Amino acid sequence: MSQNFIQSAIDAPKNDFDLSLRPPHFSEFQGQARVRERLELMVQAATQRGDVLEHTLLSGPPGLGKTTLAFILANAMGVNIKTTSGPMIERAGDLAGLLTTLERGDILFIDEIHRLQPTIEEYLYPAMEDFRLDIIIDQGPNARSIRLNLPKFTLLGATTRAGMISAPLRSRFGMTNRLDYYTVPELCAIIDRSASLIGVGIDHEGCDAIASRSRGTPRIANNLLRWVRDYAQVKADRHISKPIAEKALEMLEIDSDGLDEMDKRILEALVIRFQGGPVGLNSLAVSIGEDVGTIEEVHEPFLIQKGFVKRTAQGRTALPLAFQKLGIKPASGSQGELF
Ligand SMILES: Nc1ncnc2c1ncn2[C@@H]1O[C@H](COP(=O)(O)OP(=O)(O)OP(=O)(O)O)[C@@H](O)[C@H]1O
Ligand SMILES: [Mg+2]
Repeated sequence: MSQNFIQSAIDAPKNDFDLSLRPPHFSEFQGQARVRERLELMVQAATQRGDVLEHTLLSGPPGLGKTTLAFILANAMGVNIKTTSGPMIERAGDLAGLLTTLERGDILFIDEIHRLQPTIEEYLYPAMEDFRLDIIIDQGPNARSIRLNLPKFTLLGATTRAGMISAPLRSRFGMTNRLDYYTVPELCAIIDRSASLIGVGIDHEGCDAIASRSRGTPRIANNLLRWVRDYAQVKADRHISKPIAEKALEMLEIDSDGLDEMDKRILEALVIRFQGGPVGLNSLAVSIGEDVGTIEEVHEPFLIQKGFVKRTAQGRTALPLAFQKLGIKPASGSQGELF
């Protein structure tokens, strides 16, 4: 159950709940202090000059606030934002359709920009650099290229896989901002704000219990809060305390580190089946029956950040914490003992 829960929190970013809790202004956006400072400064500078925001790339694991920041930037600049995603732009005409409806200063937000087709990327380069689009219309002997002049716009790209963005595309962004997992106090502040928006009482310990199981991710924090709210409504007096939060989260089989079933299966495979590793990502994925992309994008970054797993040139290696978590002593000479 927990596995489905976390996966659905990752897969269904645009439910109403998510949207209603999305902070509209920098002042309500918790955490990511460095990124926020840089973006706020960029907005201030562009506004003072009466200029347009630089093209900016936002990267980081799912649910950390990339889309939220795109909307905050549009709000702060007082411009329109058009959203699309890499796989949705199939032909040059789709891109032209989007770009030609923009007004000066508007933002084009391309989610999952690492999934843009190479041919579309080629069209995007002159659009980003010189605000023009050369598209070829007709085929065969009638084929001709027409040039469309575009207003000066801002491209905001978001990606969960920064490493998959081609170097030429990456170099055309004025700035890259990497979002990182949130600390427990930051998540507490987000949960506290969300609780008041959905009208449920929560005390500090209750907040902490949810925050520490949220895998450093605001979207998961909000989704867990919603579940705990339901639990508190049925089983308690609609107030979230630590024991209520813990009981509710136990029902989802999320452990005190926020690890779900799939995380535990990854650790078990690494530690038991592969004796601590190193093991290649593909073998690991096959052995637990999970998609390579999901492991790489959703599970692994969190396990690495928490110090359970290490990524080496030879493959994935279990760290002592992983052995400890499973109550297993590393065999002498195994990787778990080396660190
Ligand atoms: N810093 C923050 N402060 C408060 N709430 C946040 C913050 N970041 C994210 N959230 C909440 O988490 C939800 C998910 O964020 P968002 O959709 O921006 O993530 P994302 O990085 O775009 O994810 P994906 O990669 O899946 O598209 C938002 O609806 C918002 O409610
Ligand atoms: Mg998003």
